[in-house]
Amino acid sequence: MADCLICGSELSPFMTFGKMPVANGFLAPDQFAFEAFYELPVGFCAECKMVQLTELVEPDKMFHDNYAFYSSTSAAMAKHFEEFADLVREKYLGPNPFVVEIGSNDGIMLRHFAKVGIQHLGIEPSANVAAEACKRGVETICEFFDENLARRIVAQHGQADAFLGANVMCHIPTIHSVVAGVALLLKPKGVLIFEDPYLGDIIEKTSYDQIYDEHAFYFCVTSLDYLFAQHGLEIVDVIPQKTHGGSMRYIVAHKGAWPVSAAVAAQRAKEQALGLGKASTYEKFRAKVEKSRDDLMALLRKLKSDGKRVVGYGATSKSTTVMNYCGITPDLVEFVSDTTPIKQGKFTPGSHIPVKPHEEFASQPPDYALLFAWNHAAEIKAKESAFVTGGGRWIVYVPRVEIQS
Ligand code: SAH
Ligand code: TYD
Repeated sequence: MADCLICGSELSPFMTFGKMPVANGFLAPDQFAFEAFYELPVGFCAECKMVQLTELVEPDKMFHDNYAFYSSTSAAMAKHFEEFADLVREKYLGPNPFVVEIGSNDGIMLRHFAKVGIQHLGIEPSANVAAEACKRGVETICEFFDENLARRIVAQHGQADAFLGANVMCHIPTIHSVVAGVALLLKPKGVLIFEDPYLGDIIEKTSYDQIYDEHAFYFCVTSLDYLFAQHGLEIVDVIPQKTHGGSMRYIVAHKGAWPVSAAVAAQRAKEQALGLGKASTYEKFRAKVEKSRDDLMALLRKLKSDGKRVVGYGATSKSTTVMNYCGITPDLVEFVSDTTPIKQGKFTPGSHIPVKPHEEFASQPPDYALLFAWNHAAEIKAKESAFVTGGGRWIVYVPRVEIQS
């Protein structure tokens, strides 16, 4: 049994993925002997409805000066964050605006405020990616955000018009301290705008690879309602996003400060129809995850026995769950192609498959590319059309295991 991170009720996991390494912990062979593994169980709180990890890795083991995820490796995401920034500028800023972003990484979003001289502040504890943001002219504090930091920011800079976060709120187990900090930081009409992979998409698409150490929570409106109510905040709008396989953007404000869009109630109703508030939904999900694993392993073993070459595409943190849960070994997947310099020349966490630059993929195209970065499929397939015309095929596993051209 564990205690719910949101409401404190007891909960037990509905499944565990077994022992997992740090998802973004790409490593060199001389580090294999010291690699740390942690159980990865996930549970549903019947009281407040939050889906969450029930065992956690300490934040400084994941976010540090050698963090492997650089936001700007996807051109499509760069465009997405430019549009996000445009929306904030057009709709949510008052006179003398101040914008804060949590988990601002390499400055992919805040640079659009910096370049037009809007007062902004990024909060990014991973020093290497924070340094990249600073180089782009983005003001960044290299710290973990919490209520105490919010107090210091208010004292130094005043309150904010907008507090932004993408793919980070769900990373923080001490979320009450974050939300309390947001409530302090926001001007009376200020808004919190954040987006994260959406629980409804994870359940509908069996995208179990969203479950890994960094993702402490799997959010939906139903569970977030409870969290924000504890801090005098409310969700005033929701806008579904196509990013990361299906995300939700939530717009949150001080209670009563903004009219509440009809989209919020509509989303709650969809969540009810999908059964997101019922334990049985997660039991069914577990069975689908097991089938997905078995189907993928059967396909990879068949391709190996047929003498085919399979290479991974995208050394994602999501793939750490897939590789370690399914048991993918270097004899099944020869290497993983990735454009991130810090990952190249290293090995995938736990499964120890070499990560190589894209040039190796292009110069020795395999028979099959296992698309670990399936969330970027549109961008990747558009630029890899030569791979397919040359006879190569994609293997995807979300929403089901299949071969695609
Ligand atoms: N927003 C970017 C980065 C997401 S990765 C994007 O969507 O591409 C999550 C980021 O949050 C990492 O850069 C990590 O270092 C940062 N992070 C983790 N915990 C945090 C905390 N408590 N406060 C601020 N940032 C945090
Ligand atoms: P992503 O799926 O965004 O994140 P996560 O680590 O959270 O699962 O990671 C995409 C990875 O794929 C990243 O390491 C960069 C790599 N990548 C490529 O190698 N080529 C590409 O064309 C794209 C878009 C990404």
